[in-house]
Amino acid sequence: MSQIFVSRVEQIAGRVASLARPISSITAYDYPMGRLADEAGIDVILVGDSLGMMVAGMEDTTGVTLDQMVYHTEIVARAVKNAILIADLPINTYRTPSESVENGMRLIEAGADAVKIEGGLRQIEKIKAMVEADIPMVGHLGMLPQRVREEGGYKKKGKTDEESRILLESAHALTDAGVAMIVLESMATDIATLITKEISAPTIGIGSGPHCSGQIRVLHDVIGAYPWFVPPFAKVYTNVADQVSEALRQYKEELK
Ligand code: KIV
Repeated sequence: MSQIFVSRVEQIAGRVASLARPISSITAYDYPMGRLADEAGIDVILVGDSLGMMVAGMEDTTGVTLDQMVYHTEIVARAVKNAILIADLPINTYRTPSESVENGMRLIEAGADAVKIEGGLRQIEKIKAMVEADIPMVGHLGMLPQRVREEGGYKKKGKTDEESRILLESAHALTDAGVAMIVLESMATDIATLITKEISAPTIGIGSGPHCSGQIRVLHDVIGAYPWFVPPFAKVYTNVADQVSEALRQYKEELK
């Protein structure tokens, strides 16, 4: 009997298509948090390069390396049994199509189901090469944290007609290139809503209004584990930082 070969790209497309809307997504950077997120039924877990700030205390994501992403992807992958696991390629690791394929494959080998890169039209050739190499891809449009230094800060996108036009064109191009999903970060609600209506790939919003196909949040924002900076759109559901501080004070007190 002949066996039907289903590529990784097709498998992930099928899993994404079967997700109920709204799609829930969260970042995770280590085994316990990956396991808790998976066991809570989160649909999509991202090993984001935001680990540069949330885990390593860096100022932004521009110092994160591929080896660090591979390590964190491996340890989260060990925990995740049901969710779709995405990992970020960090800055300067996807400058050409061949570099993108080589480095993207390292994240797949580390256990990621799909790889995310930031940017629109200028990434199309790289995304096509990666999909061709059977690497399921996720796009990322709007505010691009890897460009924060070039842009002089984190700025909301899609506030002008011209910017909105380019975002919509980019979303179509990413979809045609074969991405399984697109993260829309810090984008005006109107353009995020229009992109979501027009393209077939699901959109996962963060700071882009309520009308995306799903939402993603940084874990530490949601659980209040990084009290030194909380983005304005973040809803904090519990206060882990205070709980840890209090537990450690009690522990010290009881030793006396
Ligand atoms: O690195 C990250 O955490 C991300 C999310 C903010 C989407 O890319």
